[in-house]
Amino acid sequence: MDDDVVLSAPLFAAIDPEAAQALFVSMKPLRLPRGHAVFHEGEPGDRLYVIGSGKVKLGRRSTDGRENLLSVLGPGEMFGELSLFDPGPRTATASAVADATLYELSHAELIGWLERYPAVAKHLLEALARRLRRTNEALADLVFADVPGRVAKALLDLSTRFGEPAEDGLRVAHDLTQEELAQLVGASRETVNKALADFASRGWVRREGRAIVLLDRDRLERRAR
Ligand code: CMP
Repeated sequence: MDDDVVLSAPLFAAIDPEAAQALFVSMKPLRLPRGHAVFHEGEPGDRLYVIGSGKVKLGRRSTDGRENLLSVLGPGEMFGELSLFDPGPRTATASAVADATLYELSHAELIGWLERYPAVAKHLLEALARRLRRTNEALADLVFADVPGRVAKALLDLSTRFGEPAEDGLRVAHDLTQEELAQLVGASRETVNKALADFASRGWVRREGRAIVLLDRDRLERRAR
């Protein structure tokens, strides 16, 4: 069931179970099939979403049509809150890379919730700070790290969300196309492919369609540094 996953989101942290359940029940579930967007960059936004199942990518498009992925989020994670804390248009397009179930909460309801349970704001701030940390790191990597280093880092980051133990390593079913993986790393598809092929030939990873099995995390971690 999605309940436990959604209730693990920062929105519900440190709240008594009854109140948390009451908020969860008031949230509207929404099915988002793979490839469909829940909102687009630039649109006005008045609600946020918690992911119950599936995967959601947050992407931005340049004026000449190129795409960049800010993040790929999974169950228990939240998005769509920036346009509340800093009123303005959506800063990214959110679309499903794997069939997803989302739980929707209006910004107005969130404000009421924060007024009733101010402690929740601390957990939301923590989540925002973590995101800023990660974004800073990605920004520095774009400037200082080479593409294989960024690929190694992206795989490790995806593994913290989507990794599942397999016989010979950690299987990361990221569901991203090669193009999307390249957009996440901020490099061309060819360069990212070359890095992956190199990792595979060294025995660090095994490629399985839209999943990658991490066979040697230590080497990947060293390469990501
Ligand atoms: P909002 O701007 O309302 O809509 C797009 C959402 O994408 C945004 O809220 C955040 O929830 C999310 N988002 C924006 N930038 C990042 C980022 N760098 N990392 C992760 N999520 C982000």
